[in-house]
Amino acid sequence: MSSRTSYVTRSSRSSGATISPAPGWPARLESHGVVVRSLRRSDADDWQAVRARNQDWLAPWDATVPPGGAPRPASYGLVTRALLRQAKRGQTLPFVIEVDGRFAGQVTVSNVARGSAQWGSIGYWVDAAVAGRGVAPRAVALVIDHCLGPVGLHRVEICVRPENTNSLRVVEKLGLEQVGYAPRFLHIDGDWRDHRIFAVTREEVPYGIEQRLSTHQSHQ
Ligand SMILES: CC(C)(COP(=O)(O)OP(=O)(O)OC[C@H]1O[C@@H](n2cnc3c(N)ncnc32)[C@H](O)[C@@H]1OP(=O)(O)O)[C@@H](O)C(=O)NCCC(=O)NCCS
Repeated sequence: MSSRTSYVTRSSRSSGATISPAPGWPARLESHGVVVRSLRRSDADDWQAVRARNQDWLAPWDATVPPGGAPRPASYGLVTRALLRQAKRGQTLPFVIEVDGRFAGQVTVSNVARGSAQWGSIGYWVDAAVAGRGVAPRAVALVIDHCLGPVGLHRVEICVRPENTNSLRVVEKLGLEQVGYAPRFLHIDGDWRDHRIFAVTREEVPYGIEQRLSTHQSHQ
């Protein structure tokens, strides 16, 4: 099955000036039955239901607010509004993963830096109900190829706790190289946690990263 990608671009007018859309946003990517598409405000009910039944599954890997940090927005609506505002500016690309037409997780590209950097950081999670079917590797591969293609980034990185064996399998399947180790890097599950840093640059994958996943590896 081949990959399909569509890009929706819009220009908006404000005070007579045309605002360019952020490159590669919004987008819908698809391969091997896994769809990755831009987050919408209307995802609220699905997001809440999936997050609620996956609390124990996600808690050890979820970002938390460090002591003295600004509290997070309290509702899905506020979080989504902030994310979509950042997406319009090209600072964050919040994607939803769909499997069999259902909300099945998220892939988010954050901390997008332009100028001489041209990089972003990718985070992801899936509903435990679809775990172990290669959904995250496929979704992350689609997003990496999108970032290194239409979005125009040069480098993407993925930071993983050394204890997160499931996520280490994802970067392994994608063939990402470890480029560093960051002690006490992010506040996760209530404390500062070490992370292994994996990265890939455009030059390393001239034909895209998705082709590294074997063609027979599809969700069952
Ligand atoms: C990490 C994660 C996104 C992987 O998603 P996925 O779609 O299941 O990825 P894969 O199918 O490639 O499975 C990866 C590994 O998970 C393990 N796994 C497989 N089935 C599983 C199941 N039903 N339940 C738990 N783990 C399972 C296996 O070790 C598998 O490796 P294998 O394919 O060599 O057997 C998912 O485990 C998850 O959402 N975890 C919680 C959030 C998280 O850790 N996010 C990443 C932070 S860096």
